[in-house]
Amino acid sequence: MAILHPIIEAAGRDQKHPPWAVMSKSRRDHSIRVGRLLWKWSAVLELKKRKRIRWRAAGILHDCLKGETPSVLRREVEGAESWPDPLLHGPACAERLRGLGVSDEKLLLAIAHHTTGHAGLGRLGQALYMADYLDPGRYGKVRKRADWRRRMPLEWQDVLEEVAAVKIKSLIDRRVAVPTTTVNFWNGLV
Ligand SMILES: [Fe+2]
Ligand SMILES: [Fe+2]
Repeated sequence: MAILHPIIEAAGRDQKHPPWAVMSKSRRDHSIRVGRLLWKWSAVLELKKRKRIRWRAAGILHDCLKGETPSVLRREVEGAESWPDPLLHGPACAERLRGLGVSDEKLLLAIAHHTTGHAGLGRLGQALYMADYLDPGRYGKVRKRADWRRRMPLEWQDVLEEVAAVKIKSLIDRRVAVPTTTVNFWNGLV
């Protein structure tokens, strides 16, 4: 069994953010809550300890560069032109981790696409996509989110489709372009 990278180990086991994280206190708290959801779901799914650490690490790490300015992030992301400013922190964090030696491609894809979704997301990627949205600290749709959390992880596919539908609809309602990656993600789900 491969050893976990020290950054993944520290994040997943001790809920520690790396020293280069740029995030507000509220964003840190959000990431801890997301990690907690992933920790809980992975227990219900009876995953092995190592996998559970990986899952919680994804939650802790996914927004690590959320507070960094887009111009800095743009320099770190290959193909940055296809990412709008608010979504850049995902691929930037994945690139940063890759540069530091993290080679867990499923985890990197999960972090890069936690807001957009991606057709190639595995179980961890789908879980992070949902957990990020179902953070109990988020405002709005409070009862609906609580209901989705209650149904996870056992009603996985239904909740995933419902969450994706709501997220995509909110883009459409605001007349925001739906990224091609998201369209492909959706088509792969249904
Ligand atoms: Fe994010
Ligand atoms: Fe997040």
